[in-house]
Amino acid sequence: MPAPARPVALAVIVPTWNEADNVLVLARRLHETLDGLVPWEMIVVDDDSADGTADLVDAAALGGDTVRCVRRIGRRGLSSAVIEGCLATYAPTLVVMDADLQHDERVIPRMLERLAEPGRDLVVATRYAGGGSTGDWNGARRAGSRLATWMARLATPASQAISDPMSGFFAIRREAFLAAAPNLSGAGFKILLDIAASAPRPLGVAEVPYTFRRREAGESKLNATVVLDYIGMIFEKRSAGRIPARFVLFGVTGLLGLVVHMAVLYGLNRVAGLGFELSQTVAVLVAMTSNFLVNNNLTYRDRRLRGMAALGGLLKFYLVCGTGALSNVGVASFAFAHGSNWLVSGLAGVFVASVFNFAMSSRYVWSG
Ligand code: GDD
Ligand code: MN
Repeated sequence: MPAPARPVALAVIVPTWNEADNVLVLARRLHETLDGLVPWEMIVVDDDSADGTADLVDAAALGGDTVRCVRRIGRRGLSSAVIEGCLATYAPTLVVMDADLQHDERVIPRMLERLAEPGRDLVVATRYAGGGSTGDWNGARRAGSRLATWMARLATPASQAISDPMSGFFAIRREAFLAAAPNLSGAGFKILLDIAASAPRPLGVAEVPYTFRRREAGESKLNATVVLDYIGMIFEKRSAGRIPARFVLFGVTGLLGLVVHMAVLYGLNRVAGLGFELSQTVAVLVAMTSNFLVNNNLTYRDRRLRGMAALGGLLKFYLVCGTGALSNVGVASFAFAHGSNWLVSGLAGVFVASVFNFAMSSRYVWSG
């Protein structure tokens, strides 16, 4: 019988989306840092990148490298990719890092040392303490990151012990990850925050400073959608799951629809001089249609309707919103008749209709 291979002690989990220019460079750098230190493997979790990232990793694995690729088809998402990578190994220690070489792999040995200290579950590589830095970010990105960090602290007390809860670079004991796994939301970019907020007991945390490097190849995937997802997740965590992240996005879409409605009404009635009833009717239709489009591309983008299905969805959405509007008027009138003032009555109607629209849309329009 051949001697059993040395069991892997460390798995480095690397989510990728179009990182063909970076992923094997990272593999080589991990060899330089980890070979001889610990038996390790690198698990790339790729979301069907068009640039052939997964094929490159497979070829390297066939060539004998200690890398492998978990392929996901028809799904996207940094956090959920990381979760699946963590679940795909038996290694007792996990390191999560980006593929784009912005995370400095040379601090991993120090992270492993700190994780070995008694009582430690998690070691975060931080840009915000003890000599760490965000490198050459511009003022806007630095301010944005600070703001998001501050919101995270506000939302999840568990993250207060972490100077950089937005970090995508950390080491965690497999046991601690598995204990948090059933509660993870898996949405968006912020897996560390998700883990800290989902752990059944407070994690023993240490931090290791590093300097965030500049991205040399490929593009960042951080965009407005990612930011909205993040805000949704903060609400979901803070409300212990009672307010789903998707409802927050649905609500933001509704507010946007209100702006669209008022703009159309103003344009048709005040500027173009059309009658009020006609203007208001057109404004309702335009706002419902724009809400449908925004929900289809944001709130429910993982279940996006296309072609004829989108047309059918739009009609169902009109029906849902129409019914919601009736319930809005009903609830508001009831509250008003029972002594609530106009503001409370109006808001009660809007709230009930929003919950109704959300529930019905999730169930019948974007049933997934
Ligand atoms: N599988 C998968 N699916 N991977 C993804 C996806 C996705 O939908 N979106 C992004 N990635 C991968 C990228 O290929 C990269 O390896 C990593 O996730 C980070 O994406 P970037 O687009 O480079 O993000 P960033 O530089 O703005 O921010 C990152 O670094 C921050 C600092 O540590 C993120 O990891 C943040 O979470 C982190 O805080
Ligand atoms: Mn990056």
